[in-house]
Amino acid sequence: MTVNERKRARAVAKPGGDGATHVSALDLAFWRARVGPTVAALGTPCLIFAEEPLRQRIAELDVAFAGLPVRHWWSFKTLPLRPAVRTWHALGRGVEVVSEFELRAALGLRIPPSSILVNGPCKHSWLPRYPLEGLRVNLDSVVETRRLAPMARRCGWHLGLRLSTRAEENFEYPGIRAPFGLMPGEVGEVLRMLRRTRQLPEVLHCHLRTNVPEPRYYREAADEVLETARSAGWQPAILDLGGGFPPARVASRKGTALSAGFSLASMREALITIRARHRGVGEIWLENGRWLTASCGVLAVTVLEVKEGRGVREVICDGGRTMQAMVATWERHAMRVQSARRGPAVPTLVHGPTCMAFDNLGIHELPRSLRAGDVLIWFDAGAYQMSWETRFSHGHAALAWWAGDRRTTVRPRETAEAWLRGR
Ligand SMILES: Cc1ncc(COP(=O)(O)O)c(C=O)c1O
Repeated sequence: MTVNERKRARAVAKPGGDGATHVSALDLAFWRARVGPTVAALGTPCLIFAEEPLRQRIAELDVAFAGLPVRHWWSFKTLPLRPAVRTWHALGRGVEVVSEFELRAALGLRIPPSSILVNGPCKHSWLPRYPLEGLRVNLDSVVETRRLAPMARRCGWHLGLRLSTRAEENFEYPGIRAPFGLMPGEVGEVLRMLRRTRQLPEVLHCHLRTNVPEPRYYREAADEVLETARSAGWQPAILDLGGGFPPARVASRKGTALSAGFSLASMREALITIRARHRGVGEIWLENGRWLTASCGVLAVTVLEVKEGRGVREVICDGGRTMQAMVATWERHAMRVQSARRGPAVPTLVHGPTCMAFDNLGIHELPRSLRAGDVLIWFDAGAYQMSWETRFSHGHAALAWWAGDRRTTVRPRETAEAWLRGR
């Protein structure tokens, strides 16, 4: 066997659709009932979102953390979809933004400044243009603090400090930390600056990474950052633990469920432990994007051609990783055919239409009878696909939103004519 043949055999031996990405019959029926009419109206590729799974996830969070002083924020970058943000905000919940664009978008949706939490680096380069009363701002650096402290005082901003944690290693450059937040040695200086303007931050914020494998990492990070705060003589009233819960039904490229070591019940235990160890923390904030929104959307693509004789059956579709599913680079999601088909399934490598082998959604067990014209559903496309979409050789995909039985076209497929008009 050549090296390439060995690699191919390994890849084919681990097709998608295994236990880690199992789709229940109920979920399949729910999405098929929405994909059919949406595709008939808007064509493919199309990202289709629905309110019901979002409401379900919110209810799960409320049950899991009932009785604890926990507040959840919408991570705007994870799903910048107007109706989804409106649904969230209509339930009395706030929105976390990290850029001028996101802040303006949130304000445009009539979200009041007191329900907006501004995170992210280099805010001093744009936030001075927004003297909004009562905004919530987590400062990221010494430079930011120096530039924003006087305005924060004038506008009555509720301040927080983001602290860097040991866990935030840059995975591309081992041993080097991600560039976010204050290093422990900088906290004293920032507190002194704020005290000079008669301000005390309320919130201690950290964000570990996305897809945090186990709740104990939050517990360890809380101990670490609260100890740093204590050493600097500061007792924050609120601990903002960022996002990072791994969604269900999503696997690593090797096929392991990303949420294998995670559960809301064990997260609840971790929060109870944090509160018991750090009695001064009156409230805990969470900003989960991926966990909350992944299951709220699917990507529908149409098979354009079926190719055989290259080691595994390959299909080329009108949408895929390069344009609508960047997270397929490191994640494996479930895939099903829109119309139920009988007969055996065979491993099938599913490609997008662009001229890169990279543009694929992985190998899935799909019916042998699959044909050009069939619609495929790639599940759990709610988180980050919309934020990371590209115009690689094609216009943007259509976007649709379902609330109950009602479909709204958020955006039709982008045509060359629309592009020419300068959209
Ligand atoms: C500050 C902050 N909060 C929340 C999130 C959402 O994270 P996730 O989608 O992993 O839950 C991110 C993502 O990068 C973030 O940087």
